[in-house]
Amino acid sequence: MKSFIFLYLIAAACARADLTGNWLIATPNGDGTLRRTYLHLKQQGNRITGTIRATLHLYSIDNGTGGPEGFTITAAMPILGSERRVTYRGKLAGDQLQVVEVGAKGIGPEMIARRVPEGEGALPARIQPPPLHPVRDNGLARTPPMGWNSWNKFANHIDDTTVRGIADAMAVNGMRDAGYIYVNIDDTWEGERDAHGNIQPNQKFPDMKRLADYVHSRGLKLGIYSSPGPNTCEGYEGSYGHEEQDARTYAAWGIDYLKYDWCGAFTLYRDSEMQAVYQKMGDALLASGREIVFSLCQYGLVDVWKWGPTVGGNLWRTGGDISDSWESMSRIGFSQNQLAPYARPGHWNDPDMLEIGNGHMTDTEYRTHMTLWSMLAAPLIAGNDVRNMSKSIHDILTNREVIAIDQDKDGHQAKCVWQSGQQEVWSRELAGGDTAVAVFNRAPEDARVTFRWADAGIPRTPSRIRDLWRHTEQKPLGAQFSAAVPGHGVALLRVR
Ligand code: GLA
Repeated sequence: MKSFIFLYLIAAACARADLTGNWLIATPNGDGTLRRTYLHLKQQGNRITGTIRATLHLYSIDNGTGGPEGFTITAAMPILGSERRVTYRGKLAGDQLQVVEVGAKGIGPEMIARRVPEGEGALPARIQPPPLHPVRDNGLARTPPMGWNSWNKFANHIDDTTVRGIADAMAVNGMRDAGYIYVNIDDTWEGERDAHGNIQPNQKFPDMKRLADYVHSRGLKLGIYSSPGPNTCEGYEGSYGHEEQDARTYAAWGIDYLKYDWCGAFTLYRDSEMQAVYQKMGDALLASGREIVFSLCQYGLVDVWKWGPTVGGNLWRTGGDISDSWESMSRIGFSQNQLAPYARPGHWNDPDMLEIGNGHMTDTEYRTHMTLWSMLAAPLIAGNDVRNMSKSIHDILTNREVIAIDQDKDGHQAKCVWQSGQQEVWSRELAGGDTAVAVFNRAPEDARVTFRWADAGIPRTPSRIRDLWRHTEQKPLGAQFSAAVPGHGVALLRVR
């Protein structure tokens, strides 16, 4: 009788199951990998505390109420000087949780969370960053890198077939011959690590080495993407704790370019540790023995332009992500003036990839985009579907006279030299003594822009003026220059 009562009490305690535990929501990404979210909950009465680890994000629950019959949890994490929040609602159904995420756009689809052992999905132990030292210059990117990247157009929908198609197109449509050499796969190529910790691509990329061979056979180079954190921005496998191993793998595959994106490192490292963390991969790439361009992507934090070259960086993002709009492109492009002193052969400011041809700006605006990036000696990484673009987009991307400004071997980044309202003149000195002069009209309506050469830092009246979009010579008209410039448009001149 006694033991019967004891068993009854145990059974009753189990039946009163509460939410305390470690719960996993595993959502298939469609490429053999899973997006994993861990709800690590502790219920006391109707109060719920704990953490939520949604791949790269680690949130603390600051408001959790309810119980098995229904609960709501809200959690927050600090990021980029502000706060990111998530809210989940759910209830216990049998031995699983039925959960929905409640976001700004409404309630998401119902998901199932199942109990997993305590400790699963916990952040890995912190690895102390190495002491600082200067990384040897890899000698690459003597002019700003040119190529293509999958993110702006394809985001998560990038695969082997698409990359091959892009390489095929670039090899024959004039892009490769105009200088666009790197074909870069952005986030979501990553699979799981094998038993020895070697990173493997996911199902979208059956054989990275064969893909690299294919891209090389087209006279192009292949780039790849990772993060110094345990996860990438999209929650895929990062290089944390595997830096040297990953660099060796990339070298063995035949990779020529690495974009290394901070995202997943936010949860483990302070901003002040970025330099050391990037240095680790800079060293690893050099040690791999292959020439791999090193692209830092940490959104321009902690004045990266001051230390990017020291960690072996060939280019560094100067701010947040671009989008395909005049507002985004012009805000980023026209705010690079202060960074001019930091650009030089081998080491470039990167205002982000091109949106030319993605459909939400006019051809005039895309011409401004191309001009501004070329004046800034910015990397020209096309971000559109180059297998299928209009003639006008093709002509903007492959204008050799404009590309020659970007690729000028002296590598001086342009500065704003004259401004009147929304009209601006930017100029940069070119090798051999010419000057590139861009006359921008940032206003939406057409304008006539007139300025004196002397006010734009050009002491003598030019003897020759070439219009690089019209491909025509213009007669110098004395001490001043005047042009009708369409709204959001530009006149780009090469003057002697
Ligand atoms: C960040 C980067 C983007 C892109 C995405 C991929 O947002 O800034 O350029 O690489 O990650 O997840």
